[in-house]
Amino acid sequence: MPDTNIGHTNIRLGVVGTGYVGLTTGACFAHLGHHVVCGDIDQRKVDLLNDGQIPIVEDGLEQVVSDAREAGRLEFVLGSQAAATDADIVFLCVPPPQGDDGSADLSYIQQAAEEIAPVLKPGAVVVNKSTVPGGSTIAVEKVLKRDDVYVVSNPEFLREGTAVHDFLHPDRVVIGSADRSAAERVGELYASIDTPIIITDPSSAETIKYAANGFLAMKISFVNAVAAMCEAVGADVTAVVDGIGSDQRIGSQFLKPGPGWGGSCFPKDSRAMVKIAEDHGYNFSMMRGVIDVNNEQRNRMVDKVAKAVGRHPSDLTGVTVGALGLTFKAGTDDLRESPAMAIIKELRSVGARVQAYDPTTCGELDPHQEQTLVGIDLAKEMHDVARYADVIVVFTEWPEFAEVDLGKIRAETGREITVVDMRNLLDPETVRAAGLGYDGVGRR
Ligand code: UDX
Repeated sequence: MPDTNIGHTNIRLGVVGTGYVGLTTGACFAHLGHHVVCGDIDQRKVDLLNDGQIPIVEDGLEQVVSDAREAGRLEFVLGSQAAATDADIVFLCVPPPQGDDGSADLSYIQQAAEEIAPVLKPGAVVVNKSTVPGGSTIAVEKVLKRDDVYVVSNPEFLREGTAVHDFLHPDRVVIGSADRSAAERVGELYASIDTPIIITDPSSAETIKYAANGFLAMKISFVNAVAAMCEAVGADVTAVVDGIGSDQRIGSQFLKPGPGWGGSCFPKDSRAMVKIAEDHGYNFSMMRGVIDVNNEQRNRMVDKVAKAVGRHPSDLTGVTVGALGLTFKAGTDDLRESPAMAIIKELRSVGARVQAYDPTTCGELDPHQEQTLVGIDLAKEMHDVARYADVIVVFTEWPEFAEVDLGKIRAETGREITVVDMRNLLDPETVRAAGLGYDGVGRR
C-alpha cells in the first residue's frame, strides 16, 4: 500500500513511545528516508518489534516497518534516552491520559521531556505529536530547561486502521513553533510528500488538533440526531445524507449514522475541549451538546434492542443478545471507549446475556482484551452468535458482517428475530426477505 521508498536522508530522528501514533510516525518517517530510533519503556514491546512483530492491528504497518528495518533505517530500543541520544529531531508520542475532570494529564509528556533533557544534542528540536491543550509546548520547554533546543508542536491526524495511509497522504501538516527555522526543519521531514504545510504558533497548532476532532465529532452527532429525526418523521437518513453531502459546503464524509462515536481520541478530546474552555472562562455549550447527543445515541441503541425483543429497556433478564463486533470501528483491534462496549455494559446491567463475535477477539486475547471482555461469551465464528440469540446486533461495520449468511442465521435461531443494525451495514429488504426483522439507524 505505501508508495515506493523515497530515498535516504541524513536526518536522524528519535521517537519516544511506540503506540499507534509513535510506531506509525517512526515507521513512516523511516519509509521517507530518515534514520529513526524508536524507544519504549515496555521491554516486551521492544522485543516484539525487534522480532518483526506488530503489537496492533494497523493496515500496512507491518510492511512499512519490515521494509524500513531491512533498509537499516528503523531501530527499536528500550527507553526514551536511548531514542533521543544523537537525534536531530525527537518526537514525543506518549499519551496524555485523561484526568478525572476530563482534562489532559501532561505528566507522561513532562516525564518523557525530563528524561531526554540531559541527552539532547545542542540545536535539537523536540516535537510534540500528542493532543495537548494550547500552551503545552511552553510547558515542555520549561521542563527541558535547555536554551539550546527548540520545542515544536506537530499534531497528528491519523485514524486508527488507516494510520499509515493518513501519514503518507495527509490533507495538511500543521507545525506550531515560536521559531520559524525550527518549524521549517520539521517541515523538511515531510518534503517528499505533496501536501500543504501550515506553520503557526504552538498554541494555535495545539488548538487546531482539538478543533478538528471536535468538528468531526460534531458532524457525527449531528447526523445521529438527524437519524433520530428521520425515524420520528418517517424519512430515510441515507437519502438525507446523500442530499446534504453533495453540497460541497457540507461534504459527505463523517456523516455515517451509528451507535455514536468512540475510540481513543474523540471522547477524550471532546471532554478536554469543554474543560480547557471552562478553565479559561468560556462555556463551550456546543461541544457539551455534541457529547450529550453521543450519550443519548447510546441510550437510543439500548432502547432499540429492548424494542426488538418486546421488552422494557429497564429489564432484559433472560434475553440473549448476539453481538456482531466489539471494537470501536472496523479495521482496528481497539476496544477503548467502544460504543459496543458501552452499550453491552448497559444491556448486561439490566440482565441481558451477551454472546459476541469480533474478528479481532476470536483468537488468543491480550491482557487488555481479556480484562475488558470479562462477562461476555466470545464466539469463534460469526454465525455462532445466532444460536441462542433473541436479537442480533451489528455493533461494528466489519465488512465480513455484510456477507453474513442470513439463511444460516435464520436456521440457527429457528424463529423470526430482529437484526438491530447499528451501522446501517445490511440491506433492510434482504434481511426481511430472509425471514428476519430489521431495525437500522434512521432508515425504514
Ligand atoms: C480520530 C481522527 O479521525 C483522527 O484524525 C485523530 O487524529 C484520532 O482520532 P480514530 O479515533 O481512529 O481517528 O477514528 P475515526 O475514524 O475518526 O472514528 C471515530 C469514531 O467515529 C468511531 O467510533 C467511528 O465509528 C465513528 N464514526 C466515524 C461514525 O460513527 N460515523 C462516521 O461517519 C465516521
